[in-house]
Amino acid sequence: MKNGRANFGTKLGIILASAGSAVGLGNIWRFPYETGNYGGAAFIFIYLGCVLLLGLPIMIAEFVIGRKSRANTAGAYQILAPGTHWRWVGRMGVLAGFLILSFYSVVAGWTLEYVIEALGNGFAGKTPADYVQSFQTFSSNPWKPIIWLVLFLLGTHFIIVRGVEKGIEKSSKVMMPMLFVLIIVLVICSVSLPGASKGIEFLLKPDFSKVNGDVFLGAMGQAFFSLSLGMGCLCTYASYFSKDVNLTRTAFSVGIIDTFIAILAGFIIFPAAFSVGIQPDAGPSLIFITLPNVFQQAFSGAPWLAYIFSVLFYLLLALAALTSTISMHEVVTAYLHEEFKLSRRKAAWMVTSGCIILGVLCSLSLGVGKHITLFGLGLFDLLDFFTAKILLPLGGMLISVFVGWYLDKQIVWNQITNKGTLKVHTYKIIIFILKFIAPIAIGLVFLNELKLF
Ligand code: PFF
Repeated sequence: MKNGRANFGTKLGIILASAGSAVGLGNIWRFPYETGNYGGAAFIFIYLGCVLLLGLPIMIAEFVIGRKSRANTAGAYQILAPGTHWRWVGRMGVLAGFLILSFYSVVAGWTLEYVIEALGNGFAGKTPADYVQSFQTFSSNPWKPIIWLVLFLLGTHFIIVRGVEKGIEKSSKVMMPMLFVLIIVLVICSVSLPGASKGIEFLLKPDFSKVNGDVFLGAMGQAFFSLSLGMGCLCTYASYFSKDVNLTRTAFSVGIIDTFIAILAGFIIFPAAFSVGIQPDAGPSLIFITLPNVFQQAFSGAPWLAYIFSVLFYLLLALAALTSTISMHEVVTAYLHEEFKLSRRKAAWMVTSGCIILGVLCSLSLGVGKHITLFGLGLFDLLDFFTAKILLPLGGMLISVFVGWYLDKQIVWNQITNKGTLKVHTYKIIIFILKFIAPIAIGLVFLNELKLF
């Protein structure tokens, strides 16, 4: 314990907890449906560019801020830039965390319904059209999704209250490797379905003629969302890192794990979707209507295998979502706990109850409240758009300016090289990107979206 604050126990724990935050519904639910919306391979190509050019350097920047300050994300700016407006970057992150947690928990709740459905062998003997129908009936039901959402948030709450090492680290260590193995098996199943090759083509053959500014904004937003960047989440985790952690290497590990899982998720969903004739741009329902088909068709000769795989998959998906909801909850809880001197328990309860209220409204916006819209979007879609495509990239841009321009060079050097004990060959490139490339690239995508040029 340093400064009375907790620390992560081991280096592997650090990577797994950070990867646990990054890997979640963003990879397995959001990445495939955004890829479907934006036309496939070209989107993935631009996405990879965003991860490499923006994601990794900004992740390192968040690590620098977090480990140097050893504080929650808003407090970090108060320590590193006292009396300045930089603290608003932290506060904006806290707001983003709260908003994302609210709509994210709705989808996390859906995964629980699907665990129960799988346990009761509810997918057996159905046609693709049945899966579409049952998803629509479920997600527009006023009660069921809300009950799951509340249960999910309470689960997150209790892990948060148990603290960093016991709760976050231990759970990540077991769940992450299991999820990975299962995903690989599912990729193999999916690509061997009849007619899967069209899906593989969709993922690998880019058609750049359809690329416009929206595709860039979508890919950039997805990179930030998937890597948990731009809202101080990994900055908060880094505040629990010990002095000898190699920040650059950790960022690369997390980035590679996260990207690999997203791409693999694409290789599960699209071959399966094309195989059964589901449109790739089906939107947020995509994984919930294509995956039951994968299980039933790939194991049609061995129904017990279909059963085991479907139960395991939705269970692990729920757990992957849990390691991400924990990280978002932690950002807001640590902020309220440290800045307002509330007890951790009280702070956590405030976050949980606030998210339940907003989450319920998001859930209703997909069913009974469908007709209530702002800028043509319901609350769920509006929060998704506002956070992933505006708040997170804006946060990322400000974080890169903060570390690239404002923060003392010596501090940045000391953090990235552990006071000169590590040789970081990419140091100059990282700083160059933080100073110029990241702010300009994000700025251009924003300006283009505002139709300013
Ligand atoms: N990265 C998570 C996912 O891909 O599911 C979502 C997320 C977690 C976003 C934490 C932002 C965050 F701070």
